[in-house]
Formats: sequence, C-alpha cells, structure tokens
Amino acid sequence: MSIIYSQEFNSFYLSTPNTSYVLSVNPGGFLIHNYYGCRLPVCDMRFTAERSSQASFCPNSADLTTVPDKAPMEYSCNGTGDYRVSALQIRESRGNASTDIRYVSHKFYKGKPALPGQPATYASQDEAETLEILTRDNVTGAEVTLYYTVFNNYDAIARRAVIHNSSALPLDLERVYSACYDIPKGNWDICHLYGTWAKERTFEQNPLPHGITSIESKRGSSSHYHNPFVAIASHNASEDQGDVYGVSLIYSGNFSMQVEQDTEGDLRLIAGINPTDFGWHLEPGASFETPEAVSVYSAEGLGEMSRTFHKLYRNNLCRGPWKNAKRPLLINNWEGTYFDFDEEKIYNIAKDASELGIEMLVLDDGWFGARNHDRAGLGDWYVNENKLRGGLGLLTQRIHALGMKFGLWFEPEMINPDSDLYRAHPDWCLQVAGRPMSLGRNQYVLDMSRPDVRDYLFERMDTILNEAQIEYIKWDFNRNITEAASALLPAHQQKEIFHRYVLGLYELLERLLTAHPDLLLEGCSGGGGRFDPAMLYYSPQIWTSDDTDAIERLTIQYGTSMCYPTTAISSHVSVCPNHQTGRSLPLQTRADVALAGTFGYELDVTKMSDEEKEAVKAHVAEYHKYYDLIHFGELYRLIPPNADECAWSYVAEDKTEALLTFVNIRCRPQTRRCVKFRGLAPDKIYADQDGNIRPGSVWMNVGIIKTDTMRDFETFKVYLKEVK
Ligand code: GLA
Repeated sequence: MSIIYSQEFNSFYLSTPNTSYVLSVNPGGFLIHNYYGCRLPVCDMRFTAERSSQASFCPNSADLTTVPDKAPMEYSCNGTGDYRVSALQIRESRGNASTDIRYVSHKFYKGKPALPGQPATYASQDEAETLEILTRDNVTGAEVTLYYTVFNNYDAIARRAVIHNSSALPLDLERVYSACYDIPKGNWDICHLYGTWAKERTFEQNPLPHGITSIESKRGSSSHYHNPFVAIASHNASEDQGDVYGVSLIYSGNFSMQVEQDTEGDLRLIAGINPTDFGWHLEPGASFETPEAVSVYSAEGLGEMSRTFHKLYRNNLCRGPWKNAKRPLLINNWEGTYFDFDEEKIYNIAKDASELGIEMLVLDDGWFGARNHDRAGLGDWYVNENKLRGGLGLLTQRIHALGMKFGLWFEPEMINPDSDLYRAHPDWCLQVAGRPMSLGRNQYVLDMSRPDVRDYLFERMDTILNEAQIEYIKWDFNRNITEAASALLPAHQQKEIFHRYVLGLYELLERLLTAHPDLLLEGCSGGGGRFDPAMLYYSPQIWTSDDTDAIERLTIQYGTSMCYPTTAISSHVSVCPNHQTGRSLPLQTRADVALAGTFGYELDVTKMSDEEKEAVKAHVAEYHKYYDLIHFGELYRLIPPNADECAWSYVAEDKTEALLTFVNIRCRPQTRRCVKFRGLAPDKIYADQDGNIRPGSVWMNVGIIKTDTMRDFETFKVYLKEVK
C-alpha cells in the first residue's frame, strides 16, 4: 500500500520504494507538510512542524501553533499571514485576494485519473495509488482538491490541484500553482537548466541565496531560456552523492518555479503556471485544473534522480506505439539543402541514404506555399508543386519504393504576413487592436485558443497525411509570443489567453494523434525551445538544439539528460565545418555524440566521399548494435563536460553489459586519461572489446587508463559484456 491514513495522527503517509512523504491535518484544519525524504516507518511525524515561538511582527492564526509565516504548509495561500511565495491567490467578487483553505475530506484509490485536456503521467491500477484531499475556503466558497499520485515502482510523486467555485459569485484565480514543497533548512543548492537558442539546457548548480529565486518563462512556451525543471540538492551534491529533490512541470507554456529561502533557512518551492500575464475567471460551478508537477527524491545524488525521471517519463508519460519502439534512423534535409531543393534533389538524398542503411527521409521546411525563404508561406499548407513536381504523393511513393519511411516538417502555429492565409484571416493572429504586431523570424503567431484556427490546421494536416504515406511529422514553433490577445475573448478573460493557447495546442495535437495513431511526432522549437515533459507526451522525441556541433552538444545533451530520457533526445550528425560554430570535428566524434540520443543525419549525403560513406555504414551498424543498451539502459554521467573531457555510460538494467563513451575535448600532451565506470555489478566479470577481463568492482574503482596522447576532439568507446 503506497498511501496510508492514520486517524490517530490525522496524517497521510505516501510511500514509494525508497521515499516517504508525510502530511497531516492540524486541529484547525490546516494541511501541514511534515516530511519528504528517505523512506521511514509510519509514526507520528507532527513534531517536524514545530518552529521557534519568536516571530515578531508576524500575525498569528488562532488555528496554528506557530505563526503562518513559519509553518510548513502543504499548499500555501496568499494574504492570511504566510508572506512567503504562495501557491494560491484567489480574488473574490468583493475585490480582495486573501485566501485560506482548510481540510474537508479525503479519499484514496488505486490507479490515476486522467487530467482532461492536458498531458500528464498515467498509471494502471497496479502501478500507482492516488490521494485526493478536498479543502475549502469558507469565506469565498473556493474548493481546492489536491491530487497526489504515488508510483509503486518509481521514487516519484505526481501532484496537481483543481479549483472549483462552489459559491454563487464569480472568482478570479490570480496564482494557482500545481504544487508546493516546503523543505526544512539545510545547506541547499539549486540546480536548473538555462540557455538560449543553440545553447539550450545548460546545467547550473549554485548555493541558494535568501530571498526568492525564480526560474520561469513568460515567452508563451517553456522556451530555450529556462526549462520547467529544478532540483534542490544538498550543497555540492554530485552525480552519486547527496539529497536531491527534482521537480518537473508537465507544461509547455509560461511556467514558474520559485524557490524562497526564508530568514531561518527553510525553503519553499512552488511549481506551476506563471502568474505573470495569467488569470482565470471562474464562474459559479466552474472548475480549473492545473498542469501536473512531478517530484523525485534521491538520496544518491543527481544521477539517481535522473534515472528515475527517465524511466517514469519513458514508460508513464510518453505514450502510443512509438514510446518504446525502435525509432527509424533518419536523414533530415535541413542543413543539407535549406530551402534550395526540388523533388529530384530530395529523392537523390534518400536514395544514397537508403544505401547506407538510413531508414527515413524527413523533408524539412520549404515544401509548401510560396515558402522559398523564411519570409513567406507559413500557414499555406498546400504542396508547392513547382518545387515538388508530381506532389507529395509521387515523392513519398518513390521514397517508400527505396524501403524508407517519410517524414514531413510543419510549423502549424505560425503564419507569415506574406501568406494567403494571412490575407484571408488577419484576425486569426494573436494581436492587440491598434498596437503594431511584432514580427519574429518574419512571422506572427496564430491564436491557438480559437476553434476555427485549430479546425483549419487539423483539416490541412489531416488531408496531407491522408493523401500521401507519411509516417512522421516534425512539429516546429519558431518564435516567442508577443501582443498576446485574442479577438474572441471578452476583456475580463484576456488574461487567460496564454493558458488557452497551450490548451488549444494540446487539443490539436491530441486530435491529430487520435486520427493518425501510428504517427511518430518529433517536437521542435528553433531546436530545443519547447523541450518539456508536456510535449514529450505527444512527441516521444524532440529536436534538442539547432546547434549540431558535437562539442556544443556535449553540454546541451548533458543538461537535457538531467530530466529527459535518451529516447527523447534527437541528435544528428551534420557536416563540417559546422554551420553553427564553424568547427570541424572527426566524423566518428560527431557520430559518437549523436549516438547518445535518437540518432540521425542532417546533411546532403550525396556530397559525401566514398570513405565517409563507409564510415556512415559502420555508424549505422553501431546504432543497431547498441540501440537497446543506449535507449533502455541506465545513464551514468561519468565526467561532466569541462574544458578537457567528457564521458558517460549506459548500463543495461540487468547489468550484463555497458557502453562507455569518452570525448577528449582538448589534446593535453603527456596526459593520461582515466575514467571509471559506475553502476556495474561489482561481482560480475566483464570483458571489453579488446579482451580485457576484470570484475565490475575493478572497472568501477580503477576504470580505464589511456596513456596514448589523444588528439583534440578524439573519442573512444568501451563496450563491456558479462563473461559467464
Ligand atoms: C527551426 C528548426 C530547424 C529547421 C528550421 C526550418 O529552426 O529547429 O531544425 O526545421 O526551423 O525553418
């Protein structure tokens, strides 16, 4: 049983295999957070909420033994004495925004209810249990139900909240976070992923200051700049040591993860929709459902946290036939041709690629409307038959005749002012009447909250998918949102537009996958600008970055792997000098780095030399040989990318084999390179590909010693197999 309620202690005990989460109801009805960490037996944990009684200036509550500003709250409210960041703020019809919720009832059951209209983790009756706690603000009539799903096989807990207006008057939600985590004082660091275009998800670990640290997006999508993932880790926690609380929000829009360290050193982390530019008008009887937040506690550092997220997201978030299926090894023409192609050029790329063992051709931007450059055509989802003579039907037939699959690029949410769609429906864009519309990459953003916009996009995509055999869609999104207003919403609901946009996006994705259940989607947003768990629910792989330079990718893929599984990380071999950095790297290095994800090529293969083509054949063979190990094995980050080197490994779950990749970033003459495996079985005997046979404990404690001087950017791989 993962959920236990003790009447004696009026407490709830949530247990995963290695963790416990405890909350209680105090005599005044407040929900108090008592504990989250290593698994403990069921006992009275209410003492953990005791705080110093000195609290000058902080008002009391008759129903709390300590002042609200110090109490560890389960879901903090605004305006009633808890001045730290609050999860909930509701403005009632009289205009004030003081909020105070108290326990009413609870229930728990096996399984996990769906979150209608939004992506979320899912679980069968045997995989999880769910606790619902109903609370109520007796003054406003707001009812708040807190959901907790406890996974039986993973050290993960999913949380969300539903706000229901049970009063006769409207309410306005101003802040409504998915979850709040009060963590007692310690010596805490914050880990998060920052970046920009071509530099996404750079890992950073810093001591937490007092005050509020905010990791957020208000760009309309989760963005290149920050990722909806934060970990609170004990100071200097490393890959395999230290307490770590990882929190990941399943949301593709404006998010906010705020961490407040109060004067005493206690922490509060809240995760949810960004309250900036957000509001939700709740008529009597209506409800609002937050996105889902997932927390993972690890007592064994960041590595264990990541491995838990990887398994949970791979098995219980990604869905559909592709979630654990072998992905087609693809070639994408973008960096190979940009907009300059016709059907013959694409066919020739496919033909040469098929001879090398590549399994799918993905036709990128430029196949539709007047899209010969990025200044026109977005929105006109009709095949440009001047470029693709014979249309997509003929091209896809020819490509299938090569034994390949076919994929196609779309950027459904966008529109160029120079397009037939814009000329016909200028009101379909997000816009503020009277204010100039900002252009980003020469395009405007469609109002995805509008059903007519979604109907148009669905009709176009559905028709194209029905008219030609297309197995895969790359779904792009290439700018941030500005002037966010909808022509259809009344003034008092304009604050809903960012969230309604995201709900509209989800609806269209769901509709497309329902109509085409076998379709493989790849998410994309100018590279990895929308690399988040919500997109992962629809697209089990996401283009990680437009930066295809393998050395830059080390940092990007390292950060991405903190929360996201290898199966999600699209990674391609491109040409040299690299288009983003101008750097030239050995083909083997480019392949070794791209193998650490959903592998493919992004170049004009017809321009490769025979020698390079032979090398590609060898890389394709490696892709097949190591596919299961890389994609379903457990990731151990051995050496984070630094100025000199980087290394990682995958270990099969049954510990019978492992693959280690080492990248020598900089040649250091007369310097030996050492790297140690992790995660092997110490007593198993393993042989490497050169016939060295040693116990797992030796491979882990001594590791590999390379004395030859390694050149700049040179790599090596070590494959271990158990000797029986
Ligand atoms: C974005 C994507 C690229 C490519 C271009 C096409 O930048 O990240 O991979 O699809 O759009 O315009």
